Amino acid sequence: MRVEEWRRVFPSAPANGITTVAMWETLDTPTVTIAATQRFPGPAWDELADVTVLTSWPPVEPLPGVDVLLEAVVTVGPDELALLPDLRLVANYGVGYDNVDLAACRERGISVTNTPGALDAAVADLTLALILACRRLVVASDRFVRERRWQRGWARPELLGHDLAGSTLGVIGFGRIGRQVTKRAEAFEMHVILNTRRSGVPLDELLRAADVVSLHAPLTPETHGLLSRERLALLRDGATFINTARGAIVDEDALVDELVTGRISAGLDVFTDEPRVPERLLDLPNVVLTPHVASATVETRAAMTRVLVDNVLAFVGDEPLLNEVSA
Ligand code: DGY
Repeated sequence: MRVEEWRRVFPSAPANGITTVAMWETLDTPTVTIAATQRFPGPAWDELADVTVLTSWPPVEPLPGVDVLLEAVVTVGPDELALLPDLRLVANYGVGYDNVDLAACRERGISVTNTPGALDAAVADLTLALILACRRLVVASDRFVRERRWQRGWARPELLGHDLAGSTLGVIGFGRIGRQVTKRAEAFEMHVILNTRRSGVPLDELLRAADVVSLHAPLTPETHGLLSRERLALLRDGATFINTARGAIVDEDALVDELVTGRISAGLDVFTDEPRVPERLLDLPNVVLTPHVASATVETRAAMTRVLVDNVLAFVGDEPLLNEVSA
């Protein structure tokens, strides 16, 4: 059955559907049972007839009969998969799927999908927000006012930032998000240099040359720890490091050491062991911290749910998955 046909047959799938197990059965589609680690926002969710929202992850006991798992952020590895013996699809909410053990899924014949495209603009916007926050001391200025330290006029040297126009932005990774960041940075008249796995400016050269370095690569075994202590030391004095990708791409201890010296500044939306943020960062004035909110807009989160649901509907309708990922 095609997805369009399936939607015609089930035009009014229950809107809540969060307590019982989903079972779609038609003449030519087998029963599909769906479990989720949470409810996802936006109207597309209501197109899933019925979903069991799990109260804990990993599940406290095995869940035979579950075909589809909808998840975000949680670890999906061999131990978790063992509790879902009939699983056939992991639909990951998010573009990054480093939380899912693809090899373990492949071994079990389980497909994995993600939600690319839906969040590019939102992540790029937050990247620019962090660049501006760091280079123009937005958070420090806010504190300055709230702490009643503003006691003279504006022509004082306390809060001097740096122009974006004419400065150099080094973008590491030039996928969809890297492109959106570049577009925005160019509108601010930044000079953009790029590094990708296969082309662009060599990474070490980029780190030496840029005033601002922004990371937009996925976390893979190849990129894990890519920004090592030695590489971070290449950043120019006064440079700003922005990370809206994944914490583990950077040697976090080394980054904190650099930040503690005050030699560089940083805007960090992601961390190695979220939600744990290194204690030493919390009092530093040269760091802007956000809790992995790069995709956190109402519109973007709903669009991500749309992509997630479309993949599930394709699976239910026995059609090719729209965003299947492979190792
Ligand atoms: C993702 O989709 O991987 C993002 O990190 C969510 O903000």
